[in-house]
Order: sequence, then C-alpha cells, then structure tokens
Amino acid sequence: MGTLPMQATYHDLLTSVARRAAAYLDGIGTRRVAPDAAAVHDLDQLTGQLPGEAADPWELLETLDRIGSPATVATAGGRYFGFVIGGALPSAVAAACLADAWGQNASLRVMSPVSVALEDAALAWVRDLFRLPGNCGGALVTGATMANFTGLAAARHDLLARAGWDVENDGLSGAPPLTVVVGDEVHVSVIKALGLLGLGRKHAIRVPVDGQGRMRPDALPALDRHTLLCIQAGNVNTGAFDPAREICQRAREAGAWVHVDGAFGLWAAASPSYMHLTDGFELADSWATDAHKWPNAGYDCGISLVRKASALREAMAVGAAYLAPGELREPSHYSPDMSRRARGVELWAALRSLGRRGVAELIERTCGFAQRFAEGLREAGYEVLNEVVINQVLVSFGSAEATRSVIQQLQREGTCWCGGTEWQGRAAMRISVSSWATTSEDVEASIAAIRRIAG
Ligand SMILES: Cc1ncc(COP(=O)(O)O)c(C=O)c1O
Repeated sequence: MGTLPMQATYHDLLTSVARRAAAYLDGIGTRRVAPDAAAVHDLDQLTGQLPGEAADPWELLETLDRIGSPATVATAGGRYFGFVIGGALPSAVAAACLADAWGQNASLRVMSPVSVALEDAALAWVRDLFRLPGNCGGALVTGATMANFTGLAAARHDLLARAGWDVENDGLSGAPPLTVVVGDEVHVSVIKALGLLGLGRKHAIRVPVDGQGRMRPDALPALDRHTLLCIQAGNVNTGAFDPAREICQRAREAGAWVHVDGAFGLWAAASPSYMHLTDGFELADSWATDAHKWPNAGYDCGISLVRKASALREAMAVGAAYLAPGELREPSHYSPDMSRRARGVELWAALRSLGRRGVAELIERTCGFAQRFAEGLREAGYEVLNEVVINQVLVSFGSAEATRSVIQQLQREGTCWCGGTEWQGRAAMRISVSSWATTSEDVEASIAAIRRIAG
C-alpha cells in the first residue's frame, strides 16, 4: 500500500509473515500430508488475469496463507517419504528468510561479499565431508540435474580439448567423437544433461547392472582418453552404489573421465558407519550432489564439484568489460548461470547448524528409519525388493495392481506420502527417508497406516 512509509511496511509485513510461517510449520505434524481436493480447487482464486489495481500487502499475504498454505504438500513435516525430498532445517529456513531480505545476487564477489564467502565456506565443508581434494572447482546450482549438467560440461570441455577441440567456441559440429558410458540404471537427469550438452540422450553405451542396479565392472566396454563414464552413488530406487574403486581405477588407467551422480548417496561419506559405501568415489573427476535432499538445506541447492577446477572454469566463464575478473573465485565463472540466488547462505546455515557430527547423525538416523520401515513391512508379510543399504526402501504388496492400489489409497488417506516406481519389472512402493523432521513416532504411525491400508 503506497500510503505507508516503506520501513513500516517492511517491519509489519515481515513480522506478520514470520508469525504465519511459524504457525504453518507448527501445525505441519497434525495436518494431512497431501492437500485435499478442495484445497487444490481453491487455488483457482489465486489465478486468472492480472488485475489493474495494486493489492493491499496484508490482504495479499492473508489470501496467500489462507489459500496457498492448505494446498502445499507437507514436505516440511516428518511423514513425507516421496521421491528423495528432504525438509529444511530450522536454521536453514531462518537463514533463507534473512537472505531473502538481503536480496543478494551471488554472481560476483563485488555484488555480495557475504554470499560468496558463505558459498566458498560451504563448498569447502562439502569437499571435506566427501574427502575430495581441497582445490576442486565447485558451483552451487539449482539441483542435481544442473550439477550433472555442470560436471558433464567440464568433462566435455576437457575430453575435447585433449583432442585439440575448443567446444565452447567452436561448438560440436565437426568435433571429434566422445564415447559416453552409463550404467543401465542411470538416473534420467544424467540423460537429460547429456542431451542438453549435445552429447545425445540416446548415444550412451549402457552397461548392464546387477539386481540392485549397480554397474557391473566385468561388463564395462573398452575405455580410453575420449570416454566419459558416468557412475552413481545412490540409486534413486534401491540406494545402491556402483563399485567405484574398481571402475575408477580402470578408468584412470585408460585416461577416461569419471563423473559421479551422487545426488543423495554421496552424503553417506559423512557418516563413519556408512562411508564404506562411498569408497573409491573420491577417485572420480567430477561429482554432482544435492543439499536439498539429505542434508536438508531446503530448496533449491545442487552442488557441482570438479577435480580439475580449470576445466570447469573454462567451460563456464565468460568475460565482458563490465564484469571485473578479480583474483579470487567468482561463482558465476564456475556455474551455468550468471545472476543467481545466494543459496550458499542456506547451505552454510544447514551444515553449520548440524556440525560434522550432526550431518553423520542425520544420515544414520534416517537410514535406521529405513531399516525400521523394511522390518515393519516384512513382519506384516510384504516383500522388500531391495537390500536396504541407506535410506531407500522398495516394497511390493503382491501384484502390480495391489501395489499401485495401496500407494493410491495411502496418498489419499493422508497419514504419510509414499510414491510408486517399477523396479526391474516389478511395481513397488518407494519409501525414501530423507527429512531431519522425521521421528520414530512418524515412522511407526506411517508403518501402521500402510499395514492398515494393505491389510
Ligand atoms: C540419483 C539422482 N540423480 C539426480 C537427481 C535429480 O535431482 P534434482 O531433482 O535435484 O535435479 C535425483 C533426484 O531424485 C537422483 O535421485
């Protein structure tokens, strides 16, 4: 409302929104997880043509909360087990609010010293947790899809530069061929990234996998200095890890580039109890992961790390007279975007609020809950299709129709939310325990709801 002094508007509006946000989060444990149909239907009230006149900010906020909040999915609560969706730690939510008030552009240091300092610090912590070299290049991006894209762009740069080709300047037309190798259970985001990079969605050689989706090293094709090999830490369905040490050693001998999609699985490296699963991944050349999944930094926060920082920089940096180059790392020289939100603030806050022990404890607690889901559903006579190595559980309730029907009924019933998938020809419910907010009461209530519906 233009008649109010700006400071009063900010103060009152932000105080009021803080109360609303807190009330939303305070109530999340007692509401249904998926919104009901009426709440979704009411969203029509927020759409339509843009009115000519300005809205009153309090009315706007009241409407947004009244209509928008009930139409959210309660992913911030403890009983959401769909996809691989983490919550956001309280310190990360609070830091994000402050960062929104700062309104910083984290493209260049000169635009926001604090955003870049926190991004640098958080990237160093992540490298350290993953036991990667301190001089790796890194970028914060929107998610693992863009982190895969970013790492693969660095790989494309380096593999073609070895063949005397400058892909950024000369494009791909007439470029020497690259061989791309992926596991048969590659995540679709890697395929998407290969398509965006002009390497083709269909051209990768697919290596057969075992019953958990792990790449079989005995089935690898010949590798050479022009090969881009994509492996995975944490299959989206089973949570399984490719045997990285053997694969990376073979790739190193051949001079191939190894890229790791570790969207969530790489975080197992932070736990003394689970770090053995990530053995050998440190030998790769580039890594993609997410902080909005297991570390619960909130959306959106993907992380790209590249052993040869210069390859990432050469793939991403552009110059212009008004963009001062400077001596230090400039985020936009290492990432696909130029203007970008200061997502390093939330990442810094999430990791700092947990500390090294807290990250390990979060990994261990959620993996323990996944084990409990498997045990509780096995006890009731249902089949767990995967070896539960980390936080992912696949359950069959008999026929494909029976399994799909349990998933649908559970989503409608609202106690918790689990999605569906198909695992090596069998329909399954996916249970992904990724949130800091999940408690053992949430897990027991969810097991009881699944058993009630399936029984
Ligand atoms: C293994 C793997 N890679 C990549 C992605 C894509 O992540 P994002 O949705 O953050 O881009 C996911 C998402 O679940 C994943 O599980």
